[in-house]
Amino acid sequence: MSDLAMAPDSTYRQPQPWWRSGTIYQIYPHSFADSNGDGLGDLAGILSHIDHLEWLGVDAIWLSPVYPSPQHDNGYDVSNYRDIDPRFGTLDDSDRLIEALHARGIRLIMDLVVNHTSNEHQWFVEACSSRDSPYRDWYIWRDPRPGMIGGEPGAEPTNWGSYFSQSAWTWHEPTQQYYLHLYAREQPDLNWQNTAVRDAVHELMTWWLDRGVDGFRMDVINLISKPDELVDGPLLAGTAFADPSPFVRFGPRLTEYLAEMHERVFAGRRPDLVRIGETPGLTVEQARRLTRSRECGLDMVFQFEHMEIDRAPGDRLAPVDLSIQSLRDNLARWQTALAHEGWNTLYGNNHDQPRLVSRFGDPSPEYWQTSAKAVALALYLLRGTASMYQGEEIGMVGATVRSPDDLRDIRSVNYLRTAAAKGLDEAVVLEALRRTARDNARTPVQWSTAPDAVFGSANPWMPVAEHPAAITVEAQRNDADSVMHFYRALIAMRHDQPVISNGATRMFDTGPTPIMAYLRETPAETLIVVANLSSTPHPVPALLAQHMTAASAVLLESGPHAGAESLAPWQAFAVLTPSDVDRATGI
Ligand code: GLC
Repeated sequence: MSDLAMAPDSTYRQPQPWWRSGTIYQIYPHSFADSNGDGLGDLAGILSHIDHLEWLGVDAIWLSPVYPSPQHDNGYDVSNYRDIDPRFGTLDDSDRLIEALHARGIRLIMDLVVNHTSNEHQWFVEACSSRDSPYRDWYIWRDPRPGMIGGEPGAEPTNWGSYFSQSAWTWHEPTQQYYLHLYAREQPDLNWQNTAVRDAVHELMTWWLDRGVDGFRMDVINLISKPDELVDGPLLAGTAFADPSPFVRFGPRLTEYLAEMHERVFAGRRPDLVRIGETPGLTVEQARRLTRSRECGLDMVFQFEHMEIDRAPGDRLAPVDLSIQSLRDNLARWQTALAHEGWNTLYGNNHDQPRLVSRFGDPSPEYWQTSAKAVALALYLLRGTASMYQGEEIGMVGATVRSPDDLRDIRSVNYLRTAAAKGLDEAVVLEALRRTARDNARTPVQWSTAPDAVFGSANPWMPVAEHPAAITVEAQRNDADSVMHFYRALIAMRHDQPVISNGATRMFDTGPTPIMAYLRETPAETLIVVANLSSTPHPVPALLAQHMTAASAVLLESGPHAGAESLAPWQAFAVLTPSDVDRATGI
């Protein structure tokens, strides 16, 4: 056990569980910091920036996969769960990282990718060796559709499309069966019905916990339980495939598998180990079921509803205009639904989502800075665990995609290829991808203004986004008015103000305006949060003005001072005031 595990509660500024008032900082290793100049980030690069993480005040790092992998999906295709990819370093480096983070009071959360493995994982290699292999049943195999010949178009066992374009089934000629892969063909899905698979997953989790890690972010964990019988679904418009999600996103044995994982892996261990489920397509009711008690197996979820508000139904890479009203309503719905039971994360970007400023703010030179602050303030003072993404603290903007050659993500590349096969105009599809592609999040972190030192190498694995000198860690470190200092203050405020972790949330109905305004209330105090999420001025809503008259202290603000009758573009503030006892609904 690490020192962190044994430290008494009083060592930490925040009450238990730590994540209620905490902030998690996601590191995408490819693009965080390159220590050896080979163009790819690495563990030594992370070690060299621990001061920055400590300065920010984050509670934990979530590290995207660093395990050996052929990198078809940038590490989300794991070929060995018990080692580090030599591109990123060694197991000794990961031990050093755990130790160095713990010495600063920062936890390490590993990414756990066990819905699928890489097709180069030894388990899959064995499974492919023969139908009689003891590993055959570790994956999901099916015969061709009755009356059809395997490998022919339409012979797939079901009409499911994969989330990365084309069929979710790949024909394995040597053993004459199809295997299922909800993602790329290089990511075969594990068969969780097989107890040997579950045992193996529990063992590898235990192995990492014994090394000192503080929990897991569980990749697409709500997809692990597949129904016994796999059947066709309705075709998605304009495609030859059905969406598999309705069949797999909350499968029949999901709750059982997670409860079993709790029992076998976590029950006897320290209760501050965190389990975060990445759960695409999850409803509020389902989120409650998975997080309402520790025995359910998850402590919180990364759900996706607010990430789909500016996307066409059924096509996550097709943009539609953002409605702040829908965003606000959606956030409010989750706040209410999990007010008494269950727990959520608060996030606006990660390695799969475009940058916060480019998507919900205004990346123009005029408003880039204030909008980055306003969006952060509106989001992270809600109830839930804040989860921020590398580079967000300096307001990084999306990738600069000049041509298809600038795209690296398998999903973008497949999407473009499929669109071309359908005869769609490449320029139009590329324009959509400029807004929606995962590549937007994956450009190297801009540490410094010196061209070679931006990220540590002159030729990074993907191009650095075009950016002004102000969007670098170096430039913002000594600027008290910077986005980076604002994030630091916000993270500290989450620790220091119990109303943020414990208070009830009441969202104001600000109608069709782009204003997000809410109260966080306990019987003792009320936090008033207001943000104009637009580049035009707006009057302060009347109801809100009433609350603000009693305001006692402005805790944080972006733009002009709180109290005026009109909100300037991207003006945002948080004001703490004693609760009016009659009004308080604190819990
Ligand atoms: C998750 C990851 C994403 C990956 C996918 C398949 O959504 O965040 O990056 O491609 O799962 O593992």
